[in-house]
Parts: sequence; C-alpha cells; structure tokens
Amino acid sequence: MGRPRKSASPSAPASLAEDVARLSRLLTRERDDLPHAYLRDPGLRRAYLAYFLPPNLAKMQAPLRELCLHSAGLLAKERLQVLDLGAGPGTAVLGIREFFRQRGSGQHLEFTAVDQVGENLKEAEALFREAGGGADNRATLTTVRSGIEAIAERSGGPFDIIVLSNVLNEMFLRDGDRIKRRTELIRNIMARLLARDGSCIIIEPALQETSRELLMVRDGMVEGGAQVYAPCLVQGRCPALVNPRDWCHEDRHWDPPAVVRELDEATGLRKDSLKFSYVIVRNDTRSLADVCGPDCYRVVSEPLATKGKLEFYFCGKEGRRLATRLDKDASPANGPFGRLQRGDVVRIEGMAIEERRFRITRESFVTQLDPFFRDRTQRSPSP
Ligand SMILES: C[S@@+](CC[C@H](N)C(=O)[O-])C[C@H]1O[C@@H](n2cnc3c(N)ncnc32)[C@H](O)[C@@H]1O
Repeated sequence: MGRPRKSASPSAPASLAEDVARLSRLLTRERDDLPHAYLRDPGLRRAYLAYFLPPNLAKMQAPLRELCLHSAGLLAKERLQVLDLGAGPGTAVLGIREFFRQRGSGQHLEFTAVDQVGENLKEAEALFREAGGGADNRATLTTVRSGIEAIAERSGGPFDIIVLSNVLNEMFLRDGDRIKRRTELIRNIMARLLARDGSCIIIEPALQETSRELLMVRDGMVEGGAQVYAPCLVQGRCPALVNPRDWCHEDRHWDPPAVVRELDEATGLRKDSLKFSYVIVRNDTRSLADVCGPDCYRVVSEPLATKGKLEFYFCGKEGRRLATRLDKDASPANGPFGRLQRGDVVRIEGMAIEERRFRITRESFVTQLDPFFRDRTQRSPSP
C-alpha cells in the first residue's frame, strides 16, 4: 500500500503518483518524521492539491450540516466571520463556501486563512478566485502568514466559525506534553478569537493515534467548561478512551473525482469514502442533543453482522455499548436498526439495558433521526 505501481494511469503522471505516495506515507506511518513546513516542497504541494484537498474539502459538510440542524439558527447570521487555522491551500475555506453556496442563503462570508507556509496561501488565494468565478462579492478572503501559536496569543474577530482542519495533530508533535499544549491552544483560541455563540470545528485524520489524541483534547476542553456540540450527544469523559484500542471516527459516503480515482489506481491507496474524526466545541451550552433529545445514541461502529445477529456500538448516556438485535427479533418496529450506518443518530424506545449491552427486542422502537447527514440514496436496502 502507498507505493506507486509501475504504470501510473495515463492521465495521472507517474511523478504525481510518486509524490502522492510519499506524502501519504509522511502523513501516516512516517508521521514522526514529518518535516516542518513540508508543503513548501512543490511536489508535495502538488500532491496535496490533487489528492488530499478534494476529500478534505468535502469533510466540512457534515459538521456544518449538524450545526444547521439546531433550532437556534447557529449559522444564520447575515455576515459570518470564518477563521481557518492551518489553512493549507484554503481547503476548509473552499468547503465552507461551497456549503453555503449549495444552501443558496446569500450570506456574506468573510474568511481569514492562516498558514505558516506562504506558498499555501498563494494557492488559497488562486483557488478562492477560481471558485468564485470573479462574480461572487459576498465572499472575501484575507490571508495571514503566521504560526497558529502566535495568532492564539492575540485577540481578534470575534469569529463565528473557527476551523482547524488536519492541523492540530501536527502541532507540538514531538512534545511529550502535546495534549496539554494543544488543549491550552484551543482554550486560548476559543477565549480570544471565537464569538460567544461561535463554533470551533476541529477535524483530524481517522488514524487511531490522531483520533485518540483529539478525544483527549476534547476531554480537556470539557473539563475546562467548554461544550461539545457534536459528535458527542453527552458531555463528560469520552468512553472511547477507556479501552486503548478504541477510537471514534467517521466514514461517510463520497464520490471521488476522476483524478483521485486515477491516483488511487496508480498508488494502491484508497480514498473512496470520507474518513475523519471531528469535534465541534462551543463557549455556550448548545449541543446537537438539544435537537435530538436525551434518549439518543450515536452509531460509532460499522454494522457487525454475525450468524444470527446484527450489532453496532452506540455512544450515549450509558457510555459506549454494544447494541444487539437477534435476527429472530427483527420486526417492523425495530426495522431501521438494520439500516444504520456509522455516524447515524438514533432514538431507541423500549430496549433492554443489560449490564454490558443494549438488547433490541421485537418491541423496541427504533427511529433513525432524519434528516441526519447522509444522502439516503446511498444506503443499502434494509434486510
Ligand atoms: C495537513 S495540512 C491541512 C491543510 C488544510 N487545513 C486541510 O485540511 O486540507 C496542515 C497545514 O497546517 C499548516 N501548519 C502546520 N503547523 C502550523 C502552525 N504551527 N502554524 C501555522 N500553520 C501550520 C501547514 O503548513 C499545512 O498547510
């Protein structure tokens, strides 16, 4: 995996495939050797633009949609100030702009993109211009070349949305105290730069290590009084951290563009869905649980189908538990259980809460909370 195959596909040059494979290794199993400011390397930057930007851009949709579900109109302001920290080529900026474009809301979006690599910011400006086609004056972009640490020491904004997309795991990387330092950094950012009713969206790779470290920062934020808006439906310590083998990540449907499919083919890598971990934290007490109620659970695993039963891990007020439905107990009332997917939010009435698991009985009433997150047409039919 990750090594370019001998013949790259005709339209993805072999050198690009080499660079994609090299960057992929640096961002995964060679993370400990990740050079400072690696995107100054033109080959790696080109690889980032072709292969990593498209999925990372699409990952913005899920957290924004979850914020829009709240009845308080969390993103409804006519003028939204957005800060993208560690912006790279403006990935999150482009993702947020696209989200609001699709909604047709006509809001003014004022973006500020910060990165330590000036070349990235030039790409961001060019892509931003291209995306607007020169006609959209409701979106502006200011770029700032700076370390995030320095920005976090200043006051500014206040910003309605602050994004750190795939950057927190690169910060204080070789520091034994990195969780504490990242937590303090986010605290400073939220105290000095985030509006009182603003949202800080942190997206990280779905790797076990980066995802667990994000959960540790999340716990530190909760201890310090911040509110997790999503994906968690309860506050308190994250139950995925109890077992060192657990972590919490998304795996959402995505149709990769041709260039990504070709690079997959050429490198043996696979980017056919959106895999990521995320947390939305706020200074106020709003949460996605306000929308779905107290008896809801987040599906935090793939379907686990074994002989005679179907199971999922759920996360909710009892912690992280296995929910089991025996095939013989499948019924119209619990039918949606068979269609659940990782990332769904579900309400279950009348399940048996056993010591270590939830048992879905024939009478359990399962409601999959629509309209949550997915293009339902991509789901497989229920059994
Ligand atoms: C993996 S890229 C992510 C880019 C973009 N946010 C995305 O999700 O596609 C990480 C970016 O963070 C920037 N970065 C890393 N550490 C930084 C720091 N301490 N201050 C400012 N930028 C930083 C890097 O230059 C790089 O552009």
